[in-house]
Amino acid sequence: MSSMQEQLKNLKDEAIIALNEINNKDSVMQWRSKYIGRTSKLASVLKNLKDIPQEQRKDVGQLVNAIKKDLESAYLQRIDDLNNLDIDTHPSVEIDISLPGMPSRNGGLHPITTALNKTLDVLSKLGFSSIEGPEAETSKYNFDSLRIPDDHPARDMWDTFWLNASDADDPLLLRTHTSPMQIRFLEENDPPIRIAVPGKCYRYEATDATHEWMMHQVEILAIDKNISISNLKGTLQSFAYEMFGLDAKIMLRNSYFPFVEPGVEMAVFFRGQWLEVMGAGMVHPDIIKAAGYDPSVYTGFAAGMGIERIAMLLWDIEDIRYFYQNDLRFLNKF
Ligand code: DAH
Repeated sequence: MSSMQEQLKNLKDEAIIALNEINNKDSVMQWRSKYIGRTSKLASVLKNLKDIPQEQRKDVGQLVNAIKKDLESAYLQRIDDLNNLDIDTHPSVEIDISLPGMPSRNGGLHPITTALNKTLDVLSKLGFSSIEGPEAETSKYNFDSLRIPDDHPARDMWDTFWLNASDADDPLLLRTHTSPMQIRFLEENDPPIRIAVPGKCYRYEATDATHEWMMHQVEILAIDKNISISNLKGTLQSFAYEMFGLDAKIMLRNSYFPFVEPGVEMAVFFRGQWLEVMGAGMVHPDIIKAAGYDPSVYTGFAAGMGIERIAMLLWDIEDIRYFYQNDLRFLNKF
């Protein structure tokens, strides 16, 4: 074998050893240009074939081409192997099976979701089925049909986010409460009615420990023949027992909401403190009349409860803002 042929075989061996040591695709590309590319040693031997003595020329040419072909297929095979390595675990990484495992992080429900689900479960036991309404609401449903006209001082109770895409006569807003769904539901359904309406509500106001600009409410509405305020009190009492346990005390105080008459506010005493959790009352006769029913035959009660307030009571949380800061130190406790 001529020294030229020997050199070529050594070159091939060197190339194969180098290729097998490569563990990433970038280095394989570099390897390729070094050993079989246009500027490689092989390429220059082929290019200078004419300088080789006549009797060796054919053999050397064939050898170079055979080596090139072998290296080319070794290269393709290596690429293939590396692709498979990406999928399987890397065999050259040693695994110490005695090390403790990596803990996997479990997701969980946000405390407000849990409180909302619990509220709806309790209400469902009391006979109320859930239904949702729109968050972008018209002024008519959010205010007017609930007996809160434009110039009514009660509108000041709800600082409002108005939406740009608005009809001047009936502007759109982010609903300030879930009460508009009372009207929407009454327009489409006949008594007897027992609904619970969960959802987000928005108020343009400064946040503090008990106020957020976005919060969740659940509205309840019951309309039937012979519903009296004792049904309201009984329902609220049972609700408090189911939610907070038989130690829970409730307090109803007179309050004013334009869509009920009389109106009350309910506070719950739990873990040593009173916290306001809902407004309630007997549905105003004008609302029953506007829905097409005779208020001397059909009566009803309504209530709107704050889910953040309920969650604060349930888990003894002193600041409503914790719910929406996305701080894992807080969220991990639930
Ligand atoms: N919508 C009232 C609010 O957000 C709460 C409320 C009060 C709802 C009395 C009611 C009710 O259904 O009867 O402040």
